Amino acid sequence: MAKVLVVGGGGREHALAAALERSPRVQAVYTAPGNAGTPNNVPIDASEATGLEKLADFAESRGIDLTVVGPEAPLCAGIEGGFRGRGLPLFGPSRQAALLEGDKGHARRFMRRHGIPHPDFAVFDSLAEAQGHVRAMPEGPLVVKAGGLAGGKGVTVCGSRAEALEALAGLMGRRLLGAAADTVLIEECLQGEEASILALCDGRRALYLASSQDHKRALDGDLGPNTGGMGAYAPAPVVTPEVLAAVDRRIVAPTLRGLAEEGTPYRGCLYVGLMIRDGAPRVVEYNCRFGDPETQAVLPLLESDLFDLLAGAARGELGGLAVRNRPGAACCVVLAAGGYPGAYEKDKVIRGLEQAAGLPELHVYHAGTRRLGEEVVSSGGRVLGVTGTGASIREAVAAAYRGAAAIGFEGCHYRRDIGYRALGRALGRALGPPRGR
Ligand code: AMP
Ligand code: GLY
Repeated sequence: MAKVLVVGGGGREHALAAALERSPRVQAVYTAPGNAGTPNNVPIDASEATGLEKLADFAESRGIDLTVVGPEAPLCAGIEGGFRGRGLPLFGPSRQAALLEGDKGHARRFMRRHGIPHPDFAVFDSLAEAQGHVRAMPEGPLVVKAGGLAGGKGVTVCGSRAEALEALAGLMGRRLLGAAADTVLIEECLQGEEASILALCDGRRALYLASSQDHKRALDGDLGPNTGGMGAYAPAPVVTPEVLAAVDRRIVAPTLRGLAEEGTPYRGCLYVGLMIRDGAPRVVEYNCRFGDPETQAVLPLLESDLFDLLAGAARGELGGLAVRNRPGAACCVVLAAGGYPGAYEKDKVIRGLEQAAGLPELHVYHAGTRRLGEEVVSSGGRVLGVTGTGASIREAVAAAYRGAAAIGFEGCHYRRDIGYRALGRALGRALGPPRGR
């Protein structure tokens, strides 16, 4: 029987821990640092100066059979190398392979070298040159991006050259994101529908979890400021079998081949953010980890044993394994704290968790929560991810909103239209986002 350590403390990590606990081969799951919903919390924070070493010490002393890393920061800081050096099995890419997320200029140049479909781009480390480039572009939409890790705050989709110049002034002039914008990218603005693909990779092969779609804006109708993600659903109907075949052939296979050829084979979850237009996918971004909140929608559909898949990928042996999903759909609604995505309130008592636990087809994933005495209180901007499942997207959406309605805390807000694109397709027409459900 295996012992597993999950690194991280958000909704994604709770979903990973819950899916791993379902495996008959898993004896115990530990979570570091975890939250009020995760099992066996270990008070080690990977972002502390000696956090990675402490995690490896813990894994060694407890005889952990597999460590699964949630967030990008420890991967980009090289947690994989530290564990490998001590003979400790870990699911997650090496620091070099994780540069696909950690350095967006590197990622775009990699795509160009390997013929992987991507938008036109240019990379700059000087404000004057970046400004000159924008001024020389035709008037129209452009995307300005910080080259480094920016916790989801590094991208501005600009409607005009003037907006792009303003975004550059913020990143490189006022240095709003610090060193994350030492380099910036100016990209062609892709059009189409977005979707997320999570590929479990063993260095050579990939197995695909259900496709999904994230909802990044704070308000219904995809309005308001960007957030870490206000909800997700799976599968995403825009990812037809033909689109998935194109993703495999034109994106994931050449990515794995290119990384292996360059001496940085990829073992871990490769997240491919896609823009799909007329059935043709292009890469918006790579992430070196599971998506949040996509994971909270994708894993409740997984029937295969997640431990077998992640342990196989970590060993470089996915051959012979397969991903099997239950039929139907899942929808995750994020309950956010008052003020989020700006400065938000904390320490609000969360009510209704027990009632929600009794509802059918519902998984409640904790994100920003902690225990305070007998109570569970909020401690982050995204507080809970409430996932409904069902035979159809309609049923899944209904189950998720029954769960959301059962739970409450002061200032709680959530989008009422998660899944609207898939609902529209199920009805056979393009559906505008419903308002005021
Ligand atoms: P983030 O997850 O913070 O990296 O934000 C990425 C988001 O910015 C994506 O989900 C897209 O909506 C948008 N985005 C990034 N690059 C492009 C691009 N080249 N064209 C269109 N949208 C983009
Ligand atoms: N949901 C987007 C991400 O995980 O980056």
